[in-house]
Amino acid sequence: MSSANFEEYKVWDASTRVFHWVNFICVVLLIFVGMVMLYKKELGIVSIDAKIALKTVHVIVGYIFSFNVLWRLVWGFIGSKYARWKNIFPGKGFIKQLGDYRVSIKSSSPQQYLGHNPLGRLAVSLMILLLITMMVTGLVRAGTDIYYPPLGSFVAEYIVDANTSPDDIVPYNSAGTVKSKVSELKSFKKPFGVIHLYSAYILMFIIIVHIYFVIRAERKEGGSLISAMFTGKKLFKQKPVDIED
Ligand code: HEM
Repeated sequence: MSSANFEEYKVWDASTRVFHWVNFICVVLLIFVGMVMLYKKELGIVSIDAKIALKTVHVIVGYIFSFNVLWRLVWGFIGSKYARWKNIFPGKGFIKQLGDYRVSIKSSSPQQYLGHNPLGRLAVSLMILLLITMMVTGLVRAGTDIYYPPLGSFVAEYIVDANTSPDDIVPYNSAGTVKSKVSELKSFKKPFGVIHLYSAYILMFIIIVHIYFVIRAERKEGGSLISAMFTGKKLFKQKPVDIED
């Protein structure tokens, strides 16, 4: 279908669009609850119960986030052309495409891409790696902090003493646990918390850069790339460079 001299092209399939917006909502919620957790003392949240409740909310949203990321990872192998990893992660010929694109955006006729442009591919690849890092470190902390799945039952079994059932131990309460094992657990989980926090900061920075470049590309190159994440379609006056006849 075309309107005026614009041609409409299908790009993002429904699965990719649903992933994008579920991910966006989960990441905003996770950053919000994560920040409340980080500044809990300053916010006057001091009770252990409130601390555990915040972590539980964060972890439950984290599960939705994790399923969504895992599904997207699979979709990158079985989904439609532009959703596939081979069209997203930099591979053969990428450096040349990036160079050509960078030259073109300084000219009066920037190259238009139906899928992600080469700079977008770099940003998306980095974001996916960060999302995986957040998922893995978050799931480890969910198990080691509040004994939640998938690792929680193994952790509880490891630190519990001989007279207690793993189901009866409570986060942040040493009753029924072996002191030396709890201290081993503390050293084990610490680096995961550090990576989780610093990756969250990097992710926040990349999200801001991503939004800035998406708005800039939309204004300079057209192609309706923001509305395409809702409709799945982009509009172009000329044929995009990454489409075959
Ligand atoms: C993009 C996704 C995510 C973001 C931006 C995020 C952000 C944060 C932030 C800012 C904190 C506070 C760090 C601190 O208190 O030191 C935190 C802690 C935590 N997150 Fe996430 N998180 C994400 C995903 C997840 C996932 C998927 C899970 C698990 C299902 C998870 C579980 C946890 C846990 C258990 C903590 C507490 C760790 C601690 O007390 O140090 N997070 N997260």
